[in-house]
Amino acid sequence: PKDAPAENNELFEQELRKANQEMVRENYAQALRSFNMLTLRYTDEPLAHLGRAKVLAHLAERQQSNQRLWEAIDAYKRYLAFEELITSDAEFIAAGESCIKHLRFLGNHHQAVNIHELLIERSPGNPHLRNQLSLTHLMANNLRQVEQVSFNTLKLAPDDAVAQLHYGLVLKQLYGDYLQALPFLKYAVESEEEGTQEPFFYLALGETLQRLSRQPEAMQVFSKGVAKGFYTSQYQRSLYNVPGLKAQPFWEPHETGYQRHLEKLQFHWRTIRDEALELLGKTGFFEDEAEQLRHKGVWQQFELFSQGRRMGDNCQKTPKTCALVQQFPESSGCRRGQVKFSVMKANTHVWPHCGPTNCRLRAHLTLVAPEPKKTLLRVAEQERTWREGELFIFDDSFEHEVWHNGSLPRLVLILDMWHPELSSHQRRNLPAI
Ligand code: LMR
Ligand code: MN
Repeated sequence: PKDAPAENNELFEQELRKANQEMVRENYAQALRSFNMLTLRYTDEPLAHLGRAKVLAHLAERQQSNQRLWEAIDAYKRYLAFEELITSDAEFIAAGESCIKHLRFLGNHHQAVNIHELLIERSPGNPHLRNQLSLTHLMANNLRQVEQVSFNTLKLAPDDAVAQLHYGLVLKQLYGDYLQALPFLKYAVESEEEGTQEPFFYLALGETLQRLSRQPEAMQVFSKGVAKGFYTSQYQRSLYNVPGLKAQPFWEPHETGYQRHLEKLQFHWRTIRDEALELLGKTGFFEDEAEQLRHKGVWQQFELFSQGRRMGDNCQKTPKTCALVQQFPESSGCRRGQVKFSVMKANTHVWPHCGPTNCRLRAHLTLVAPEPKKTLLRVAEQERTWREGELFIFDDSFEHEVWHNGSLPRLVLILDMWHPELSSHQRRNLPAI
């Protein structure tokens, strides 16, 4: 405290220096003991709490412990609560940003937002701090908040590339307004400024160009993404990848090692179809695709397994299908995919898009397809259609696009399955998608 006796202050400085040295020497256990003591003895010294926060964060990293990370976050918050006592803006902001980084890592975007607001209050004219807030909203997929924050940042700093980028993303993703989105996305990505060079943003710009029928420019953006190491290839643009997995647009059943399972499902296709059709006869079970992938038309799905988990309520409505799929654990247990019925009505076009990961293959078991000549699936540069009772397999990390130009609905069972080259360790430990 400011009015503490001088020698007391000096003693604190000395002990603080010692504790900091222990931290620099990566002697974290000892440093933590020292900082624990400092925070007890000098409760009102912000730097004691800041040092403790940093040590705890180091320990969390070393021990791979979320518990420790939460302790670090608490310590950062104690430090930040001294607000008025902290004279250095830079130090205050750096601590806040560390705290935010940890909260984002733990997926607690709500708490992160509170810290962002504290930082913005401290330095309201700093667009970087506002961009960081909108990035947290983006990570939480709160597009309305991204819109609000980035719009306000642009009032403050109209040329800010990151704010333009975030605002452009909202125009594309929330409103499907590709014409308005384009200049924002293009300016930002081409600026190459920090915070704009991410695979996801190149994808957004390229897709926007595709949706405006500017295919050659889109391909240029994607190949720049390949050059930057963002994507495996121009056509394979999934973002969550295990490197080196065999990659081709279409697969034959015998290439997967799952042939026996696939044949069994195919053998029972009429049973599966009948369950799906009964469900389709009722309203309110199939849900619209909700990722702005539809250009026009009707495309709905009913999930049976998601991220390797059985959807209990849904499976009650289609028990035979779920029982069959459950005998194929590489599919029902695929934590990077889903099993679902997918119905597509006539006059539907699905924009070119890529799935999120190269860790799965996607089988379509065709249940209802009265007009094979009027429907089309393009994967990279290859095309196929659907034929009742047949099954095909594609890798949906490759760009694919769907047209239904007929007049009658098409119904398929989609089965994602682990990429056959993934080890059982990987299948158990890869984070779900
Ligand atoms: C896709 O995976 O995007 C489509 O093939 C799904 C569908 O229903 O055709
Ligand atoms: Mn798809």
